[in-house]
Amino acid sequence: MSLELSAPAQTAPGCADDGVWLECIECAEQFGPFDDIRYTCDSCDGLLEVRYADPPTFDEFEGRGVWRYNAALPFEVGVTLPEGDTPLHEVPRLREDIGVDRLRIKHEGMNPTGSFKDRGMTVGVRVAKELGVDRLACASTGNTSAALAAYGARGGMETLVLLPSGKVAAGKIAQASLHDARILEVDGNFDSCLDIVQDLAARGEAYLLNSLNPFRLEGQKTIGFEILEEHYEDYGEYPDRIVLPVGNAGNTSALYKAFRELVASGALDESEVPKLTGVQAEGAAPMVEAVREGNDEVRRWENVETKATAIRIGNPVNAPKALPGIRNTGGTAVAVTDEEITDAQRSLAGEGVGVEPASAASVAGLRKLRESGEVDADESVVCLTTGHLLKDPDAAFAAGDDPEPVPNDTEAVLEHINAGSSTSAVGRVSKGVSNAVDSPLLTAVVGGLGIAYLGYRKLRSKSE
Ligand code: F0G
Repeated sequence: MSLELSAPAQTAPGCADDGVWLECIECAEQFGPFDDIRYTCDSCDGLLEVRYADPPTFDEFEGRGVWRYNAALPFEVGVTLPEGDTPLHEVPRLREDIGVDRLRIKHEGMNPTGSFKDRGMTVGVRVAKELGVDRLACASTGNTSAALAAYGARGGMETLVLLPSGKVAAGKIAQASLHDARILEVDGNFDSCLDIVQDLAARGEAYLLNSLNPFRLEGQKTIGFEILEEHYEDYGEYPDRIVLPVGNAGNTSALYKAFRELVASGALDESEVPKLTGVQAEGAAPMVEAVREGNDEVRRWENVETKATAIRIGNPVNAPKALPGIRNTGGTAVAVTDEEITDAQRSLAGEGVGVEPASAASVAGLRKLRESGEVDADESVVCLTTGHLLKDPDAAFAAGDDPEPVPNDTEAVLEHINAGSSTSAVGRVSKGVSNAVDSPLLTAVVGGLGIAYLGYRKLRSKSE
């Protein structure tokens, strides 16, 4: 089974354990799944994939959550909290506004630690147990560290997390800290953290649980199975397109693998596979560059910046798996600005769906592709939102309205309410402007408006 969508199922090689083995996507060398600790190919250092002699069909799936899909996983059950079974929200106003036939939001922020990483960790930490390791490690922009800390704690194992100093949202550090990970803050970006963790893993100091680890992606495949099953149940067909935020491109690779396995088993027709569409922030968009320029390899961006810190990544390690996924499904990739991300975060929140900035990139990307005509009005689209709003309280506060101080008195509170909500509107504009344009003059003008309004309100309440 190559990375082609039409690749047929393979016969198990001698090294397979119960029909499961590891295979290099570059040179096709095969390895036993648990006979040694390895993350990449011994011969050529290519990425490894978990392969199965028996690819899954829909009627084998039973139960709930990630382990419902154990016919497509290397174990019956893992170290579980439990995870998966996340909502596929309808968002009618947003759908209307963006202008597509159907729009659903697969909210991965509803997993136990608030991101899709839990799906990978329930499998990854189970594999760590199988291999008999006792110290787990990852580099992270935050969510992987939160998930690893929680699942490591659940499994009774020691965890080390390496984070880019000053660039990880508060909620995520709080989680890693309370779940008892050792948090090592590196004076560098995510990509430097990953370089160090890979060195530590190569020296046998810790078991690496970044998405370079092929078993993590097995758990994340289940996002694809869930979307297909639920969409089919609701509409009798699969979505035309799945739009998702891209950092290391682990999810893009995992979803593509889910589709390939279903095609190999005959459960899904090639023509029914959704178009995988990746979204990155403009300041960290090496995958978009590669897709748009038709390159087979991704150029590492040394300097990356975006408010969507979860996807502040310049060297997407899973690109060799993800690029064929985007191309072979007829998908595309697009970059969005931080302002477009914040707008999308507000739009989702306006439908009751609270997500962190990186997650909102999917919706921002869909809007952009719809406006440019690359996405058609008659499409049925699922956007993946990868992390919960509370992961990044500072971003949520900056995008939302300020609290309004009121006196400790019912009459005064009522009067304040009836005076309208313009203060918060001014507050929002003022914050938006000072964030978007670093112009002291503009900020002063808008800030002045706010002060003028507060003065007016004071006068008004005195005169009545
Ligand atoms: N969205 C969120 C909220 C993330 O935390 C990440 C990755 C992504 C999207 C990108 O997913 O790597 O599969 O393309 N976060 C990693 C971390 C890097 O360390 O938490 P991808």
